[in-house]
Amino acid sequence: MKGLILSGGTGSRLYPLTYTNAKQLIPVANKPILFRVIESIRDAGIDDIGIVVGNTAEQIKEAVGRGGRWGVKITYIPQDKPLGLAHAVKVAQPFLGSERFVMFLGDNVIQGGISRLIGEFSTSGWNSQIVLTRIEHPEQYGVAELNEEGRIVRLVEKPKIPPSDLALVGIYMFDHHVFEAVNAIQPSWRGELEITDAIQWLVDNNYTVHPYVHQGWWIDTGAPGDMLSANDLVLEEIGHSIEGYVDRDSKVDHRVTVQRGAEVINSTVRGPAIIGEYARIVNSYIGPFTSIDHHVTVENSEIEHSVVLENSRICDIESRIQDSLIGRDVVVSRSPIKPKSLKLTVGDHSKIGIL
Ligand code: TTP
Repeated sequence: MKGLILSGGTGSRLYPLTYTNAKQLIPVANKPILFRVIESIRDAGIDDIGIVVGNTAEQIKEAVGRGGRWGVKITYIPQDKPLGLAHAVKVAQPFLGSERFVMFLGDNVIQGGISRLIGEFSTSGWNSQIVLTRIEHPEQYGVAELNEEGRIVRLVEKPKIPPSDLALVGIYMFDHHVFEAVNAIQPSWRGELEITDAIQWLVDNNYTVHPYVHQGWWIDTGAPGDMLSANDLVLEEIGHSIEGYVDRDSKVDHRVTVQRGAEVINSTVRGPAIIGEYARIVNSYIGPFTSIDHHVTVENSEIEHSVVLENSRICDIESRIQDSLIGRDVVVSRSPIKPKSLKLTVGDHSKIGIL
């Protein structure tokens, strides 16, 4: 089997973070989501992986390379415009050929990996396997309606009135018949070739599409809140270790990772949390569910349930920073210059909550 990761798209729901950066490279517990996806596919025994890339292609190539680090072979597949998930399958046909494959959205995180799913599909006679999970608000996703025997009757993309609570997780398995489907369907009202329409075409044309109901957690990291939730869940799962320096005046929980070269000085870190390589935490409090990326400085400040990306500085902030997603190279500091007021230089589409 081959692997296909979708890493193009626009990422508009994560503006301004994704104006300049690929959303799939935003780290969750200090590791880019895309790397977690590559590892899930590799751990399921697949080493031939294609990555569909759009206008952030160069960044993705630079970060991922040829795959040697994971022991896999990576092929990049350019998609001129983000014309939909089924369109991405279309442009990947020369890479996929007639092999069965798993398609994984490059911004999705799933608990427990996909080895079992891949094992089942690769030895089955099914033409496709889709992954479903029960969620409270399926309106935002592709939704499946199953009949009494558990077979798929219908799939609808972002329905106003969902026919069930079974949302489609961003992991799909296909054989070569999917190319007939993606060539037969028409763009939807939003101008995209929808993967739900392609799967519906397979169902309508009597191909076997097996629904698998996933029991653990699954996060589509499309929006900032989802990114924080993914960070919470992954921080709870990973093993923690202290490789950096923690001085005697600091208190660090057992569920805290301090990565190589990081320093924690006169500070408290409550887990689960991760402090990235060469980060400096000085006279500060880092609360649970926080990821501090590499080369970040936090000084005389308090922060919890947040993600701070590389090279940022948070200094002398009196109020506790909470539920925040802070980008790369950001400076949040107290200004000594009067009048005492908020002085902001904030990019387009930023969101700031002030009490
Ligand atoms: P989406 O989150 O559905 O789309 P998006 O990335 O454009 O985000 P937004 O809605 O916030 O603008 O995409 C899911 C994944 O698939 C994501 O990793 C991007 C990728 N993708 C492609 O590679 N090609 C495409 O044509 C589309 C639509 C998405």
